[in-house]
Amino acid sequence: MRNILITGATSGIGLEISNLLSKDNDVFLTGRRNLDKINYFPCDLVDIYELETLYNKAYQYFNSDIDVLINCAGQYINKPIEKMTLDEITYLLDVNFKSAYILSSLVIKGMKKNRWGRIINIGSISGVVGEANATLYSATKSAYTGFTKALALEVAQYNITINQINPGFVETPMIENTLDKKERKEVLDVTPQRRFIEPIEVAKLCQYLMSDDAKGITGQGINLCAGLSCGC
Ligand SMILES: NC(=O)c1ccc[n+]([C@@H]2O[C@H](COP(=O)([O-])OP(=O)(O)OC[C@H]3O[C@@H](n4cnc5c(N)ncnc54)[C@H](OP(=O)(O)O)[C@@H]3O)[C@@H](O)[C@H]2O)c1
Repeated sequence: MRNILITGATSGIGLEISNLLSKDNDVFLTGRRNLDKINYFPCDLVDIYELETLYNKAYQYFNSDIDVLINCAGQYINKPIEKMTLDEITYLLDVNFKSAYILSSLVIKGMKKNRWGRIINIGSISGVVGEANATLYSATKSAYTGFTKALALEVAQYNITINQINPGFVETPMIENTLDKKERKEVLDVTPQRRFIEPIEVAKLCQYLMSDDAKGITGQGINLCAGLSCGC
């Protein structure tokens, strides 16, 4: 039974992770929308002052330190680099990377004190192989890679592991809102397994990475991508 803080828990992958992990653990959830739950705090992760409030709310709910942080919240922007506005650039960096960095800095103190912890960053295969017209999205996700490895080294002696999951195309509202019917077919055509990843597959990998069986896995990026990263 662990105390787990999950961002992006109101939809898609994060929702599935929270549904699975809440069966055997205590979870505290966040997203922007309003939900009437005692283990939920609505906040916009671009507001760095809200992050400390989120951390404090989770701490108060658990009445204890956070054992596991899952950085899942994220947004996607698809447009050519010359069309990206300065506001969009700042926004995506803040949502997809800076918030995870700051939240990690807040939870790590308790993890070090307790000499146990897990941080799991939900990256993307677009940060591993790159994605045209998603330059900043790809960059925010590969920023996780350096962060994951560096922090893994920094806290390795405290029984804390830091890992990253890089999903391929996952059947969630993010994809439903982005791809039309023709684009969905194109995605399936280029995906070696000819299928979308299901959110539960990501959730089960989180469950494994949290477990003591996975204590030797740290600083790793695991591509859960139906073969997309293998080449063509
Ligand atoms: N779906 C895919 O194919 C795919 C592939 C690779 C990686 N990923 C990554 O997986 C993660 C989850 O994606 P998903 O497909 O599950 O997307 P989703 O269904 O759109 O869910 C996104 C989640 O992030 C939260 N969120 C977004 N902006 C936020 C903000 N400014 N402040 C606080 N919370 C915010 C949303 O909460 P509210 O809506 O309540 O604000 C929601 O819970 C993302 O990091 C994404 O990049 C997805």
